[in-house]
Amino acid sequence: LVSISDIFRNREKYLEKEISVGGWVRSVRASKNFGFLVISDGTYFETLQIVYNDSMANFSEISKLNVSACVIVKGVLTATPQAKQPFEIQATDIVIEGESTSDYPLQKKRHTLEYLRTMTHLRPRTNTFQAVFRVRSIIAYAIHKFFQERDFVYVHTPIITSSDAEGAGEMFQVTTLDLENLPKDKDGKVDYSKDFFGKKTSLTVSGQLNVETYAMAFNNVYTFGPTFRAENSNTTRHAAEFWMVEPEVAFADLTDLMNLTESMLKYIINYVLENAPKEMEFFNQFIDKGLLERLKHVASSEFARVTYTEAVEELIKHNDKFDYKVSWGCDLQTEHERYLTEEIYKRPVFVTNYPKEIKAFYMKLNDDKKTVAAMDCLVPGIGEIVGGSQREDSYEILTNRMKELGLKAEDYEFYTDLRKYGTVTHSGYGLGFERCVMYLTGISNIRDVLPFPRTVKNCEL
Ligand code: 4AD
Ligand code: MG
Repeated sequence: LVSISDIFRNREKYLEKEISVGGWVRSVRASKNFGFLVISDGTYFETLQIVYNDSMANFSEISKLNVSACVIVKGVLTATPQAKQPFEIQATDIVIEGESTSDYPLQKKRHTLEYLRTMTHLRPRTNTFQAVFRVRSIIAYAIHKFFQERDFVYVHTPIITSSDAEGAGEMFQVTTLDLENLPKDKDGKVDYSKDFFGKKTSLTVSGQLNVETYAMAFNNVYTFGPTFRAENSNTTRHAAEFWMVEPEVAFADLTDLMNLTESMLKYIINYVLENAPKEMEFFNQFIDKGLLERLKHVASSEFARVTYTEAVEELIKHNDKFDYKVSWGCDLQTEHERYLTEEIYKRPVFVTNYPKEIKAFYMKLNDDKKTVAAMDCLVPGIGEIVGGSQREDSYEILTNRMKELGLKAEDYEFYTDLRKYGTVTHSGYGLGFERCVMYLTGISNIRDVLPFPRTVKNCEL
């Protein structure tokens, strides 16, 4: 079989030749003694028209096919300079691989994304999701390419962990204990020594703490894998299972980290514009008008960089516009993040040096003792896409901070050890992979960039 991608990319090789192509029917138009099938095989963001006629024994079966039936077509690839498509296949033989019943729910018309969300097993057959999931795949590749070209080592950090990397208590527990009949110790507490691992374990919220240990051996590392958060945020940007890209770099401070983030995002944009032009054109036309122009502009201009204190001063001037009023010390909400990047700076913005109270325990304390060397990267349409920091590299300060926050020292011994054995300035960040896909496609709901979304009260398939 020849794929539609091969046909479009190497047309000279196949024109006026007999070839076989397999695909799924997008539409059928039949008249008395000839008809047209449009098929898609998923390899390329184009469909292929098939012309067939009643010289075929199964002419009437073909004419009765429903949308999404699967066929293998043999015929001659013929140039059609007058038509919308550059060529079509004049079929000599069509084998019906699998019929589709007439109740196939995605007939040829536009469906809302909400409706398509109710059938995650069929939506990848639509144009929108063909574009989204190919671009998602290309972005993943671009990310690996970016880091591999810079000699970063890809570390597979574990999914099951026994420490809370963010210290935020948003973990899904993993257990082999019988929840209806929990073993108790003599104080009446759950006895986790009876559990599979002999202790309480959870799904990871971030690979950061594990990957940091590898940064102290390999210098430049990254992890890229699924992460899990049991946070009760039913929004368009939060999922319970999402993917995160987490580089960690030895000898790098906060400025180096922002430079790395900015280069990575620009690299991804350029790579996708170059390698998925048809899909990007589709998003620009049907999902988010102005997307292409915006992305090209972002790829060629500098991101803004402001401190939390400066950002708060700016936001306070616009407090009348917010549901949640801003004051120094508050965590920035999505409405504030979007206002900063969409209205005030009108481009991606790094916000740095947040109050330590609203950030994680591992971030490096600044000289003012009030703020930490954190950075969030905010982008229009989404808000926070990247969160990271320089790490606390002093054993004393780190262990004191952990004590203040009530973290158990024995759970984090591997982590504090790094500050005993050759500590060094180092920094890292997490890119929310789905938010990155949303940013590049203009899709506004995280449920539409995850093949099988897991969000609050939603775990289909
Ligand atoms: O800001 P977060 O929580 O940072 C960390 O987990 C750090 N350990 C990363 C690091 O420094 N290595 O998460 C990082 C990013 C956020 O900026 C956001 O883009 C995304 O992960 N994110 C989510 N994406 C989808 N659904 C959720 N529930 C998310 N929570 C965070
Ligand atoms: Mg964050």
